[in-house]
Amino acid sequence: MIGAKPRRILITGGNSGLGLALAKKLSSRHALLLSGRKSQADVAGTLPTGAGYVVADQSEPALSAEALARGVSDFGWDSLDNAVLNAGIAIAPREGIDSTAAIRQTLDVNLLAAILQAQALFPLLKKSRGTLTLIGSVVHSGSATIPAYAASKAGLHGLARSLRSEWKGQASVQVLHPGSAKTGIHDKAGYDPGRMRSLFLEADDVAAMMASAIAGRRSPVTLSWVRYLNGGAFTGRRL
Ligand SMILES: NC(=O)c1ccc[n+]([C@@H]2O[C@H](COP(=O)([O-])OP(=O)(O)OC[C@H]3O[C@@H](n4cnc5c(N)ncnc54)[C@H](OP(=O)(O)O)[C@@H]3O)[C@@H](O)[C@H]2O)c1
Repeated sequence: MIGAKPRRILITGGNSGLGLALAKKLSSRHALLLSGRKSQADVAGTLPTGAGYVVADQSEPALSAEALARGVSDFGWDSLDNAVLNAGIAIAPREGIDSTAAIRQTLDVNLLAAILQAQALFPLLKKSRGTLTLIGSVVHSGSATIPAYAASKAGLHGLARSLRSEWKGQASVQVLHPGSAKTGIHDKAGYDPGRMRSLFLEADDVAAMMASAIAGRRSPVTLSWVRYLNGGAFTGRRL
């Protein structure tokens, strides 16, 4: 039966928002290692009981990849069943224009870090024929309001397609594209969605759809209201 065996699951950006909601959903049945840019002391008390935590700041992409691989080994794991590369940022352009610094930061944290982390984690995923899950966004196909963010998510879409073929027979790869969800990302981006926020999905519901999509291993998968209204958060495969 799918989901019967406890899995070793790494989730980046696991200390808040969708990553934390997913971790809470999976923590009773699986072993979890979470990562984030905050210190262990800053996240103490917020993580699910029993979950490990490793600091891996993705604004230094190469160092974050090393920190994750080392963190997995320090946690006593020699393989991974799932790596969910979820950490990400958005930066709202000022007067419609992204600064060079904001573009670099967005691409470093969202895309370059994911590419290097995928490389670093591949041997661990290969050992258990595990699954790499990249968290993209519905705006991967383009957005007039947040172009650098959209470009980083388009990059993840392309990365998933490439690795899916490169790793064939060794590890699964998928990209999930959530629609807008009620997390702190918009405030951190300096973007006020106003009344639109009431139309955003609950983080818990998106996390339920993420868990089901991860179990299904298909790619790409869009996690929007359409899937939600079709029962995507209540039915589907169980991880
Ligand atoms: N919410 C949405 O509407 C939405 C829609 C589509 C896709 N997504 C994607 O879903 C993923 C999760 O986003 P979310 O909505 O849950 O946002 P969130 O609540 O801000 O969570 C993002 C996570 O990434 C971490 N992070 C940010 N910068 C980092 C860095 N330099 N190094 C390491 N970790 C870093 C955050 O840490 P801190 O807690 O320290 O900030 C947090 O744990 C992102 O990839 C986002 O692009 C979100």
